Amino acid sequence: MFENLKPTQTDPILGLMSAFRNDPRKEKIDLGVGVYMDDSGHTPVMKAVKAAEARLFDVEGTKSYQAIPGDALFNERMVRLLLGDGHEILTTGRLSTLQAPGGSGALRVGAELILRAKTDATIWIGTPSWPNHVPLLGGAGLSIRQYPYYDTNLREICVDAMMETLKLVPRGDVVLLHGCCHNPSGADLDPSHWDEITELALSRGFIPFIDIAYQGLGKGLEDDAYGIRTMASALPELIIASSCSKNFGLYRERTGSVTFISGSSSQADIVLSQAKAVARQMYSMPPAHGALLVGMILDNEELRRQWQSELEEVRCRILSMRSILVDQIKNNNAGINFEHIKRQSGMFSFLGISDQQLERLRKDFGIYIVSSTRINLAGINSTNIGYLAEAIKTVLH
Ligand code: LMR
Repeated sequence: MFENLKPTQTDPILGLMSAFRNDPRKEKIDLGVGVYMDDSGHTPVMKAVKAAEARLFDVEGTKSYQAIPGDALFNERMVRLLLGDGHEILTTGRLSTLQAPGGSGALRVGAELILRAKTDATIWIGTPSWPNHVPLLGGAGLSIRQYPYYDTNLREICVDAMMETLKLVPRGDVVLLHGCCHNPSGADLDPSHWDEITELALSRGFIPFIDIAYQGLGKGLEDDAYGIRTMASALPELIIASSCSKNFGLYRERTGSVTFISGSSSQADIVLSQAKAVARQMYSMPPAHGALLVGMILDNEELRRQWQSELEEVRCRILSMRSILVDQIKNNNAGINFEHIKRQSGMFSFLGISDQQLERLRKDFGIYIVSSTRINLAGINSTNIGYLAEAIKTVLH
């Protein structure tokens, strides 16, 4: 049977990760996979996470199964982190939340639930998007349509083209949106765009599916949630997939959540029972460790304060790398203007150079960048920034 299988293409992001690992050069720089690195190039365990792990070691009395929706404290605290403590939806009973295996698991549970509600459902995905969105959501069985999101020539969101396309989305279709820190462009919707898309969702009758994997890394924990909170107030139905990989640094613990907002509390109960069946058929119950830590951190004043201050450090370090990089490469012979990198948010921006220039960066300098020219700003630090800036200026020559 297996002889029928052909090799698949390597994942554009994860393939780059292993190519980087195998490169023996000391001066190599990893600007590929979206993982935070500190100024020494290390991906640390956050201190708040370490402290929670120490407490968990003492109090955890069992490794028995969790329930299918995962840890109740985690689910409750995640919803409050996403929607804000005082959000009016919290008391309506219209929410159903499940812990999920990472942001990817949350997206997949969301997709499978949509298909249970509508077997021929279509999801609209902005271009460009995270390269795994189409395989993950399309692989579940959703039909994929696309809407224009980012203009690589103008280096900004193509708002008019996006809105024109969204005006054509039929009732009952789903529209994928990035909550903040757009991956791969770093170009985020501003509040007026969110308001307009919310109006469109109401008038057209489409259902937004918000993927938020970077809350706190863009403009801050509260501002990054503007879109989610606005849509949760205004719309009868909404899906939110969230990840704790980046903002809690829990990548390998596969910690995320999926929240469904339904038209009524009785509907929400049915959604939860269906989502539990989805999870049972795919993985039964999610891994506990990361969620127990996040629940503990968000529920404890001291740990939460510690976590927020570390997260703010992460956010500010990325912002400062954006600005230093742009200043160091602005006087380039090709006359390319990189100011968009300063304006954008989160871990990523497009460098916007040619394929040949990108290839030279990798071959001649050991600088690893995803083929779309997406760079992870968190891979830059005070030691490698001079080398990186010179290398970029050299290949632009
Ligand atoms: C990324 O976009 O680099 C991250 O979200 C990691 C991944 O799984 O692709």
